[in-house]
Amino acid sequence: MKRFIVIGVGRMGSRHAANLYRGRVRGAVLAAVADCSGEALKAFSAKCPKAERYTDWRECVRLVKPDAAIIATPHYSHVPIASELIKAGIAVLSEKPQAVEIAEALYMNGVAKEYASVPYAIMYNQRTNPVYAAAKRITESGALGKLKRVSLTVTDWYRSQNYYNQGGWRASWSGEGGGVLINQCVHQLDVLQWLVGMPERLYAHAGTVNRNITVENEMYCYMEYPGGAKGTFTASAHELKGSNLLEIAGDRGKLVIGKYSMKHYSFTPSEERVNADTVKGYGKAAVRVKRYRYSLFRLIRDAVFGQQLNVIRRFADWLNGRADAPVAFGTEGVNALQFINAAYMSAYTGKAVQFPLDAEEYSKTLAIFKEEEKRDGKIFVR
Ligand SMILES: NC(=O)c1ccc[n+]([C@@H]2O[C@H](COP(=O)([O-])OP(=O)(O)OC[C@H]3O[C@@H](n4cnc5c(N)ncnc54)[C@H](O)[C@@H]3O)[C@@H](O)[C@H]2O)c1
Repeated sequence: MKRFIVIGVGRMGSRHAANLYRGRVRGAVLAAVADCSGEALKAFSAKCPKAERYTDWRECVRLVKPDAAIIATPHYSHVPIASELIKAGIAVLSEKPQAVEIAEALYMNGVAKEYASVPYAIMYNQRTNPVYAAAKRITESGALGKLKRVSLTVTDWYRSQNYYNQGGWRASWSGEGGGVLINQCVHQLDVLQWLVGMPERLYAHAGTVNRNITVENEMYCYMEYPGGAKGTFTASAHELKGSNLLEIAGDRGKLVIGKYSMKHYSFTPSEERVNADTVKGYGKAAVRVKRYRYSLFRLIRDAVFGQQLNVIRRFADWLNGRADAPVAFGTEGVNALQFINAAYMSAYTGKAVQFPLDAEEYSKTLAIFKEEEKRDGKIFVR
């Protein structure tokens, strides 16, 4: 039985801790929680009265001696806390994003490499969406053929001015290092890179539309992938009735993926063959369609307990030798983060950004954003 602590019991951490407290994770128990806010601890103890509580996470670690920790504090503290824990031999499941800037993620991955025997995972719960999991099996099998195009639209994270007015660390460069990309879209950008890999080059335009905030609430990206495929990514947090749609078009097939369902089209023969063989102006292939769904049972279970519980369960299984791997290794967090940092940098400079991103350059850019923010700068308002 692995003894877990949860560091940060705000909105998200309190759910993780309650799931452990209520015995919903095989092979794991909640040993204690830590939060620097007395109010957060009080609210948590109203739900889970017998849980041990600490205001200082280091003291919690020293006295409780846990096997594992879930970090659910604001983004900037993920790497400082995770690196200290990993160095102390404590397994870590970190909330997303892995870090705020790529330099920190690279540092963290260095620590993870040095302490390779200490488990380190990241909360990319959307990978447990059965529709995305099926898409992963299809892309990995090579069934789509040569990648031609990807298109990701994520405009269903609507946030009003009232949400931003609640303050705290959210929606500022100093508090979380970005807006809709780093907070919300990091999940879908992880899924995108998980399915098709990272682009070679990216060009972005960001905007802050109709909200009094200093970070972006919309982003448009154009991507170029190795092998010649092109991609687009659109994000918005100010659109009513938004969409969540991912299209992956290959030479031999295509995926059209919504949040809860997916269609897999298979072409016989491939587009390349159709083009080579056709004697008419238009070409055609036989098309087979297979449909996938997020089953009602899974949907209800994930809505009630949180999709994140799937990640915690797999993490505990991994620690107990019942699973080969976590849902996502912590070190994989660097990819979506790199995409996000690159988009910010391109949108700010107006120039395309090449991968791998220059970590030092991005740190300088982020420092400028923070400076401009202090002066009430409107960084992405044109
Ligand atoms: N996986 C998901 O779907 C998902 C969903 C929501 C939030 N998150 C992530 O979880 C993290 C927390 O988000 P939230 O919405 O719960 O925020 P929150 O502000 O509600 O909670 C954060 C808690 O951390 C505490 N805290 C801050 N610094 C601390 C420190 N050094 N030591 C101990 N406690 C500390 C705060 O007092 C607060 O109670 C963020 O990084 C966010 O991106 C993930």
